[in-house]
Amino acid sequence: MILTVTLNAAIDKSLSVPSFRLGRRHRTVEQRSTAGGKGVNVARLLASLGQPVIATGFVGGATGTRIVEQLTAESILNGFVHIAEESRTNISVLDPTTGEQTEINERGPEVNEAEVELFIEKLAYLASGAAICVLAGSLPRGVDPSFYATLIAELKRLNVVTIVDSEGEAMKLAVRAEPTVISPNMAEAEELVGHEFNDREEQVGALAELRGLGSKEAIITLPDGCVASVLVDGKATEHRVWIEPREAVASVGAGDAFLAGYVAARYGGSSPEECLRYAVACGAESTQRLGAGLIDPKGVDELLSEVEVERIEAPARAL
Ligand SMILES: Nc1ncnc2c1ncn2[C@@H]1O[C@H](COP(=O)(O)OP(=O)(O)OP(=O)(O)O)[C@@H](O)[C@H]1O
Ligand SMILES: [Mg+2]
Repeated sequence: MILTVTLNAAIDKSLSVPSFRLGRRHRTVEQRSTAGGKGVNVARLLASLGQPVIATGFVGGATGTRIVEQLTAESILNGFVHIAEESRTNISVLDPTTGEQTEINERGPEVNEAEVELFIEKLAYLASGAAICVLAGSLPRGVDPSFYATLIAELKRLNVVTIVDSEGEAMKLAVRAEPTVISPNMAEAEELVGHEFNDREEQVGALAELRGLGSKEAIITLPDGCVASVLVDGKATEHRVWIEPREAVASVGAGDAFLAGYVAARYGGSSPEECLRYAVACGAESTQRLGAGLIDPKGVDELLSEVEVERIEAPARAL
């Protein structure tokens, strides 16, 4: 079983509003609401890829009830902790005449100490039947920035593989707790190591720095694939993986699809190189659909042969 943790789950509401102008009254021509938050999107993608997954995290109020109902309607198993405050609704307004997208995210609920304790218990219970746990997205208010680190320590004790995709202080502290894999995008990786990358060589060099911070394996996603340092026969091995970039219908959420693809392949026992290939194909396929957490597994299979995987040999050390 795979677990996904979404501490800041939401209802994502997408409105299509032609000729959107500030200060005016509008009518939508199309609207859609889905359960969201990074971990929830990853859970949906994993389910689409045929993987056994349970989504957990915090939900609250009527919006929280809707999140759970939607997941259940999509046959995505879930076990959330219900909290007193209301879950977020995030609104995105797409103007089809210009293609411009405006997003308004609610501040979200504050989680109290008793709810945090309940969640730690719930996670321990669910994790006892899990092989991999994905921790993705931001932390809600009231939760200490070291919370992912706390969860990683607990999950490691239960021998669960931990994969983290977050940013800022929560990510920094999570990495120090020595998770199995982290998958930041380039900007997030630059923030973690504290400097910018000017070329491919520096991106690859940053992988060792990320591992030095604590993560056993590190993947940096790039617009055309990724660079990764993964364990092959127990030895850290660097790879570059790429695909010809395609014109995106929507590139938001490509990182979630990459992550879901990686986890699906890893759970299925694929080799480290094949996991990266599958991840890049999933990221690319997801850019062809509007809406986070959507993917066509057949489209992914068709893309696999277009993904190039290269092992980067360590540069010969000067004598
Ligand atoms: N236009 C594109 N064509 C092909 N593949 C793409 C394209 N855009 C993104 N991808 C794939 O998606 C993966 C993740 O992309 P990216 O680094 O942009 O993630 P991200 O910034 O975390 O995105 P998000 O947080 O919105 O999910 C990359 O590894 C890449 O292979
Ligand atoms: Mg991302």
